[in-house]
Amino acid sequence: SRSIRLAVIPGDGIGPEVVAQGLKVLGAVLPSDVKLDTRPYDLGARRWHATGETLPDAELDSLKDHDAILLGAIGDPSVPSGVLERGLLLKLRFAFDHYVNLRPSKLFPNTPTPLAGRPDIDFVVVREGTEGPYTGNGGSLRTGTPHEVATEVSVNTAYGVERVVRDAYERARSRPRKRLTLVHKTNVLVHAGQLWKSVFDRVGAEYPDVTTDYLHVDAATIFFVTQPERFDVIVTDNLFGDILTDLAAAVTGGIGLAASGNINPAGAFPSMFEPVHGSAPDIAGTGKADPTATVLSVALLLRHLGYEAEAVRVERAVAADLAERTGKTRTTDATGDALAARAAG
Ligand code: IPM
Ligand code: MN
Repeated sequence: SRSIRLAVIPGDGIGPEVVAQGLKVLGAVLPSDVKLDTRPYDLGARRWHATGETLPDAELDSLKDHDAILLGAIGDPSVPSGVLERGLLLKLRFAFDHYVNLRPSKLFPNTPTPLAGRPDIDFVVVREGTEGPYTGNGGSLRTGTPHEVATEVSVNTAYGVERVVRDAYERARSRPRKRLTLVHKTNVLVHAGQLWKSVFDRVGAEYPDVTTDYLHVDAATIFFVTQPERFDVIVTDNLFGDILTDLAAAVTGGIGLAASGNINPAGAFPSMFEPVHGSAPDIAGTGKADPTATVLSVALLLRHLGYEAEAVRVERAVAADLAERTGKTRTTDATGDALAARAAG
């Protein structure tokens, strides 16, 4: 019989609240012969305050022994900035080689957007997840003096760029429009830009069926607002992808709907699924958090594990629920119940 070994990191703030709803929907949609085996991990601000640990090696090791990871949110104002981000979230992405940070953006019917004319938005950002300015390379000289010099080196390897670019071409090929846009800043970041552009063009020769173009990241932000329907698949580096996907969320119903997958495509390590939003400590415990981004992340998880029909059911449940949402607020739990009921069909 089939089984899913799922590691669960509820994390901080609203993380546990939204994760509970994600698990509810997962339980409702899985075929009855699939055994769901979840294991919770107590990681995040509470743990750090109690023990000073962010992600001990023993836990990193035992996390490996799962088919996937579901993560709520990490971060709390009581923890110095960067401690949990670097010591937990980025550590997981790097240790498990999550080089594809997949972030779909779709404007569902009836979902508010600040954009005029309700454009037809349905694109996916393939954000590189293990390199760029996120590697922690750099340092500071003469720290704290008026002569301080701080560097933050963006690391881009041919290996790292090629594997994520290939993944993006494959995704573009599998979609009806077969369009792929490279976003970078080749006019200023000439070294990294040259590497990305040459790999993009060289690999592209193997995908004559995929239509490609290139945009500087600043121009891309304009098109995200003025012409988002032009995008199908976007591939970009870690930092540009971080920024662009927040903008993408803002124009497609807000951060409460934005899902993501940190994917290790070959499956050497478990992939990790998480809402794009943070821990929102200001609304934690109020029952106001929207669990939809987590539920859509569960759909990505299902798809990654080969449960395509179930993934589609979750996405349809979200679309149907959004179509009927009114301005009235509903509790986190009630939204989870509604989505689970629809997904169970
Ligand atoms: C995200 C977050 C993280 C990132 C932070 C919390 C490290 O903003 O998942 O987009 O920058 O990747
Ligand atoms: Mn971000």
